[in-house]
Amino acid sequence: MKSVVVDQEECIGCGACVDTAPDVFEMNDDNKAEVYGKVTEDNQEEVDEAIDTCPASAISWE
Ligand code: F3S
Repeated sequence: MKSVVVDQEECIGCGACVDTAPDVFEMNDDNKAEVYGKVTEDNQEEVDEAIDTCPASAISWE
């Protein structure tokens, strides 16, 4: 399965990715999103959606 990354420099902490794919992304203490969960067949579409909706284009497949 592919893996996904959040560019900590680009993330503006909007939180949309956590709403869209809560089992993959979480907010850290700096109010930036981090990948904490594994991408699976079940949540892969949510990750794609998070990539599309992130206003900072901070999320990408690795
Ligand atoms: Fe950050 Fe984009 Fe998520 S701005 S909190 S990576 S939707």
